[in-house]
Amino acid sequence: ITKPNLIFKDDLLTGENIDRLTRKLKDLGDIFNDKAAFAQMDGETVVYDVESSFPVAHGTEGGLFYGITYIHPGKVGQEYFMTKGHFHEIRNRGEYYCTLEGEGMLLLMDENGNTRAEKMIPGSIHYIPGNTAHRTANVGEQILSFSAFWPSDAGHDYGTISEKGFSEILIEQEGQPVLVPNIKQ
Ligand code: 6PG
Ligand code: NI
Repeated sequence: ITKPNLIFKDDLLTGENIDRLTRKLKDLGDIFNDKAAFAQMDGETVVYDVESSFPVAHGTEGGLFYGITYIHPGKVGQEYFMTKGHFHEIRNRGEYYCTLEGEGMLLLMDENGNTRAEKMIPGSIHYIPGNTAHRTANVGEQILSFSAFWPSDAGHDYGTISEKGFSEILIEQEGQPVLVPNIKQ
């Protein structure tokens, strides 16, 4: 994976408080709808990597974390490779995303289950309001990478999404990404 050409004071992603996380298909079984297509694929396939910088301790009120997510291109059936998706544990915490390379969609779902999507292109900046679940999907043919900035006390709540998913899923239809209702719900 090529590092985008960004320069940070003290190089935020080479310091000591760095976390690198890889999520493979086998870690993401419950998020994709097409179980038959999923079963045909190699569980060791890397779907995305996240590199994060934690300049203060987790849970610190008033601090900020920074990370870059790299989502590989690919699909499970018609559904694009995507992140697990989460609400923040402290629900009202917001976040910014800035797309670095590639082409994606940011899915946003409020607490009433209304889902919308924003197109991600290099340079696009996305504000994720508090109380909003967020998930990103790579809809292109190269790596999708984006930087994220979030409060250090936000935390992650994955449970709600892994149980019910988003109210809509993003699939490819006639070569285009489209949102369709999630029949699982
Ligand atoms: C965060 C950010 C972001 C996100 C990654 C991976 O709150 O930390 O939203 O860094 O965690 O893009 O997505 P998942 O956390 O949903 O796997
Ligand atoms: Ni987040």
